[in-house]
Amino acid sequence: MLGFAHSLQPAIIKQDYPYMWDQRYSEAGFAYGTEPNDFLEAEYSRIPKGGRVLCLAEGEGRNAVFLARLGYTVTAVDQSSVGLEKARKLAQDHGVEIETIVADLNDFDPGVEQWDGIVSIWAHVPEALRHKLHKQVVAALKNNGVFILEAYTVRHIDMEGVGAPPPEHTDFFMSLDTLYKELEGLEMVHAVEIDRMISEGNYHVGESAVVQVVARKPD
Ligand SMILES: C[S@@+](CC[C@H](N)C(=O)[O-])C[C@H]1O[C@@H](n2cnc3c(N)ncnc32)[C@H](O)[C@@H]1O
Repeated sequence: MLGFAHSLQPAIIKQDYPYMWDQRYSEAGFAYGTEPNDFLEAEYSRIPKGGRVLCLAEGEGRNAVFLARLGYTVTAVDQSSVGLEKARKLAQDHGVEIETIVADLNDFDPGVEQWDGIVSIWAHVPEALRHKLHKQVVAALKNNGVFILEAYTVRHIDMEGVGAPPPEHTDFFMSLDTLYKELEGLEMVHAVEIDRMISEGNYHVGESAVVQVVARKPD
């Protein structure tokens, strides 16, 4: 999974991505800031109050800490130990606890009917992994559990905004069409492809083409 400022891509793409993420998170400050993703901030309250929430590909923990501060019991999973170490520190700074799991999503098992909420913010992975992961998401949600996702669509490649996977990795981008298929079994509460301004740290900035989903597992 990759998520670069387009201007940085040629130099960085050549590196293995796990190395790249640890390297990015070793920089001073927070790559995507310490504030939560604003789509998550607008939609989180659909997740049953006080429930267990899994944040996929959570990086430095801004979304996990936001949810923990609101009383959710949060687990953050990411393959970057450097990112999750910063996530734990961010949680500590805010006086909350989160569970962190360093794992490749290829190997991670979210279980069955375990979570009141699952959050996927910019969790761009190769297509085959994404198919598998989203099937796991459907199984792993409890009844009435809610999945919240925001991701770049392929249209973003032609836009000004900084962020998103490198353009040659077109299969890392998401679309409503594929998400409808991958999330079969969930009821869509909100499902759009839109252009919007994003301002998240240094690495997600400007007019961006995104897909947003809020989906609930029926009783
Ligand atoms: C663009 S960042 C998003 C971080 C966080 N969700 C946020 O919004 O601040 C993408 C994250 O995906 C993680 N990632 C990419 N591929 C992964 C994989 N196969 N397994 C686990 N994490 C992965 C990276 O380590 C990185 O932290």
